[in-house]
Amino acid sequence: MIIAGSDNHFPVHIGIIMDGNGRWAKKRMLPRSAGHRAGAEAMRRTCDACRKLGVKYVTFYTFSTENWKRPKDEIDTLMSLFEEYLDKAESFTGKKARILFLGDKSPFPVTLRDRMEELEKNSAAYDSMTIMFAMNYGGRDDIVHAARQIAEYSVKGDISPADVDENLLQGLLYTKGAPDADLIIRTSGEQRLSNFLLWQSAYAELYFTDVLWPDFGEKELKAAIDSFMQRQRRFGGV
Ligand code: IPE
Ligand code: IPE
Ligand code: MG
Repeated sequence: MIIAGSDNHFPVHIGIIMDGNGRWAKKRMLPRSAGHRAGAEAMRRTCDACRKLGVKYVTFYTFSTENWKRPKDEIDTLMSLFEEYLDKAESFTGKKARILFLGDKSPFPVTLRDRMEELEKNSAAYDSMTIMFAMNYGGRDDIVHAARQIAEYSVKGDISPADVDENLLQGLLYTKGAPDADLIIRTSGEQRLSNFLLWQSAYAELYFTDVLWPDFGEKELKAAIDSFMQRQRRFGGV
């Protein structure tokens, strides 16, 4: 039985690459939109499971900086699903979880952006659990965005080159004070990061499963955590 806090090997921060919605739909001869809807439900279920198991930080890869390449009707479907789920976000994130959105919000429709900002503001004081949604997120963009802030501080004369270190850069990432990812889960059999949490997963354990995202839930989450807890992490030491 896995319970957070009962063992120091329990992952503090879990990142999830929710992949396989399209293939799930195709297998059922349904439109891709049905896969995304089922995927949103899986996200809600997994949020519940994380809360139940005591996961302190969870990041859901929801929409990448590269996903804008998809056909317009698929993007429109995704935007309306995001609106629908963010409207009821507090019902599945729990009333006491901090919610953060990782990525540049400016390309999203204004109603969605307002809702994202409202959720962040209303939950800013909670610290028992943090739920992050990576939306219009790319690991490279995360680092570029931090580097740009460093350049601005430098131009203003607030910092000198010697002040630039890992701590400074880490604090400027979209994940702000969140610890590095311990465990990255990717569904659907693909074995790549696709530009997710590049800096934050420097020493993460990777877990790949053939399960398609819409079929993911508590059982699969526990299997990933079990696998994580059996691994020996060395961080470059012996
Ligand atoms: C993940 O499922 C959802 C997003 C990337 C938004 P996909 O839509 O990538 O599903 P597949 O990979 O085509 O099966
Ligand atoms: C990664 O999935 C992005 C999200 C899960 C949001 P993709 O389906 O976009 O990744 P690739 O294209 O297979 O690498
Ligand atoms: Mg995919």
